[in-house]
Amino acid sequence: MRRVFKHIGRLVTLGEFGEGPARGPIPQLVTVADGFLVAEDGRIRRAGSMRDYEPGWEEGAAEVRSLPGLLVTPGLIDPHTHTVFAGWRADEFARRLQGVSYQEIMASGGGILRTVAATRAASEEELFELGMNRLDQMLRRGVTTVEIKSGYGLDLDTELRQLRVNRRLDRSHPVDVVSTYMGAHLVPPEYRASPEAYVDFVVGEVLPAVRAGGLAEFCDVFCDAGAFDLDQARRILRRAAELGMGAKLHADELEGSGGAELAAELGAISGDHLLRVSEAGVEALAAGVTVAVLLPGTSFFLRVAPAPARRLIDRAIPVALATDFNPGSCPLIDLRMAMTLGCVSLNLTPAEALVAVTLNAAHAVGQGAAIGSLREGKYADFVAWSCPDYTHLPYFLGSDLVEAVYKRGQAVFRRPQPCSSLRT
Ligand code: NIG
Ligand code: FE
Repeated sequence: MRRVFKHIGRLVTLGEFGEGPARGPIPQLVTVADGFLVAEDGRIRRAGSMRDYEPGWEEGAAEVRSLPGLLVTPGLIDPHTHTVFAGWRADEFARRLQGVSYQEIMASGGGILRTVAATRAASEEELFELGMNRLDQMLRRGVTTVEIKSGYGLDLDTELRQLRVNRRLDRSHPVDVVSTYMGAHLVPPEYRASPEAYVDFVVGEVLPAVRAGGLAEFCDVFCDAGAFDLDQARRILRRAAELGMGAKLHADELEGSGGAELAAELGAISGDHLLRVSEAGVEALAAGVTVAVLLPGTSFFLRVAPAPARRLIDRAIPVALATDFNPGSCPLIDLRMAMTLGCVSLNLTPAEALVAVTLNAAHAVGQGAAIGSLREGKYADFVAWSCPDYTHLPYFLGSDLVEAVYKRGQAVFRRPQPCSSLRT
């Protein structure tokens, strides 16, 4: 089945980048004025300039649509979220504004453990409904694929429930879900006296059950002061690798703890946060294959210094951006806002910010060959935006720019009332 999109105001395919993630500074992107895109059976068949358009493509097409005045980019990919949880923590935000730190709240039994209590008490159906609603909100903002971590159960039942919800969301919602097991988010209260026994439980019982159910493609560990140390993280992620799961790591978020070095050592698919990455950590990442997933919403919301993004980019480490959507450190659901924060607080260029939420984000979830750019053969997941160029995406702060979102070539969201006033 063919779908043809022509007279696209401006088309950004990111086709100029090769197979791997983009590395190094990107001053600007290649754009095509008056472009076209042909999708065949959900994949990109051709995309380019109307000068090279062949009218024959329209014969027998299921859809032929003109998109004048609109910007078309690859669908956005959010490679780090904690979307499936119950309960909010706005009261902790208010306390943090009074000067109490995230770590102090965590140490006093608040923080992640409060969300664990609320999530344990929620049924699978409730979590599913919450997840569907949140994916709707992401889709309306241009997201076509999202990674979701468990880690608000910490016991066997609730972790598996969260991961089953991920699987159901993936099947039920147009947004694709990449599922990550993160049982090592924090030591649960019932293991407080013996964290090592909790690691035994994760390695001996939960990981095999996750594997047996085919419930997660990745395993993540919060490797930081107050959570899990390097040896514990290494043990869990090695076991996950034996079971066929890729490694991710919450690394150097609160304190520099050597997380980046461990991510590089393990060949992790991504090392995330990296606010306190050391010089040795940067060098280790530069010598390895790991994508740095930066979360500027989190540093903004926690009011701490952001990750040294330019140092990473200058060392040719691929950089992706994500929201980190969660009820504590960053309740940000809008990935385009993470682009804005990426530019304003991490000093990314608008070109780097777009690559960071598309091509490099795809590599951060192991899907670089299938999504992230509009190259021939990849899935036709794309967004039509009511703005003239990609520089407007991080620029147009907090406005609503999405005109339509396409998954596998088919519209899965359209703005109820076209907004022509924003177009130029
Ligand atoms: O990525 N750092 C660990 N996990 C989340 C926060 C989770 C929470 O506060 O509920 C993060 O920042
Ligand atoms: Fe996180």
